Amino acid sequence: MLGSKHILLIIGGGIAAYKALDLIRRLRERGATVTPVLSRAGSEFVTPLSVSALAGRKVFSDLFDLTAESEMGHIELSRSADLIVVAPATADLMAKMAQGQANDLASTLLLATDTPVLIAPAMNVRMWQHPATQRNIEVLRKDGIGFVGPNEGDMACGEHGPGRMAEVPEIIASIEAALREGPLTGRRVLVTSGPTHEPIDPVRYIANRSSGAQGTAIARALAALGAEVIFITGPATVPPPEGVSVIRVETAKEMLAAVETTLPVEVAIFAAAVADWHVSSASDQKIKKTKAGLPRLEFAENPDILATVAGMVTGRPGLVIGFAAETDDVIENATAKRARKGCDWIIANDVSHATGIMGGSENAVTLITAAGAEDWPRMGKDQVARQLAERIAKALA
Ligand code: C5P
Repeated sequence: MLGSKHILLIIGGGIAAYKALDLIRRLRERGATVTPVLSRAGSEFVTPLSVSALAGRKVFSDLFDLTAESEMGHIELSRSADLIVVAPATADLMAKMAQGQANDLASTLLLATDTPVLIAPAMNVRMWQHPATQRNIEVLRKDGIGFVGPNEGDMACGEHGPGRMAEVPEIIASIEAALREGPLTGRRVLVTSGPTHEPIDPVRYIANRSSGAQGTAIARALAALGAEVIFITGPATVPPPEGVSVIRVETAKEMLAAVETTLPVEVAIFAAAVADWHVSSASDQKIKKTKAGLPRLEFAENPDILATVAGMVTGRPGLVIGFAAETDDVIENATAKRARKGCDWIIANDVSHATGIMGGSENAVTLITAAGAEDWPRMGKDQVARQLAERIAKALA
């Protein structure tokens, strides 16, 4: 529930603006107050009348609305809210935010505010993938802007790919997560999860069997305690949790780049099963079956993301947590791994076949810290995640 919460909703110009109308209704159903701001471009897609009727309040729509300025200045407008939500966030609005421009009401509010901001991007797939937009996304993430979506799928323009605005229930979940009060409220946490895919050619890759279940459960548990979670995931089979900022990557190199973009954070948890090697001889074209014989693949080592972050001299997260999946001498091997990687905690588990842990719903872990090894009883992966999140909250308190 969002009772007594005040949300400033900026509606950008895009076909997805129609979803903002439903978003207003659903937010009000949950008890929130919604102050709507309709950009000039937004008003090409939805009318000020529909927006204000659904919000039950005046819609703000122009920087030079002098009556509004005397009733409530734009500075105050931007700061009286508990959260600013931009839905849809267009490529143009994101570019303005990244550059700190203030040449209309929406961009001025976003520059003048000290309130947390959550954006739901929506744009054509090419616009999303354009290097300029990708640069802006990086800047906005660094600035601490929260993201929900975009999703992959069919777009109004007839193309297919990432760029569809997140659906209203997903946006609501992210808003609730952003406003959730808990022991980790105000803490920024990074979680890596899932496998990586290392290409052999444009259609083939090397992968591993990680489902992403444990990393996903950890991200969910941290968000439930109020943390701002940035979830960096390889192509996992388990869907990402709601209420976290998701960054999707394929390769280990991309995962490291996403982690570097996300820093600084207070806590970093590396639950991903990162491939140790990539194919250095990967081909740009599909490798053909020829009479010349079998292809020969050359391998090169991938960056060790955990060790890289744990070894940072400046900007190292205060708490760096790694995983160790072992099949024998679990505590001894994991203790050595903790020292080798330079991380603070290691969550070790026995993945030998007989335990049934790999791919199963349960886990039996040992937490290894500077103080020694602590066995946790066998329990569900969700329960392991909750216990870990509580332990992190205690360590930060
Ligand atoms: O070296 P190993 O793969 O056993 O170490 C496991 C831990 O290191 C996990 O926390 C995993 O996420 C992390 N790791 C990493 N980058 C790699 C390899 C492992 O972050 N290239």
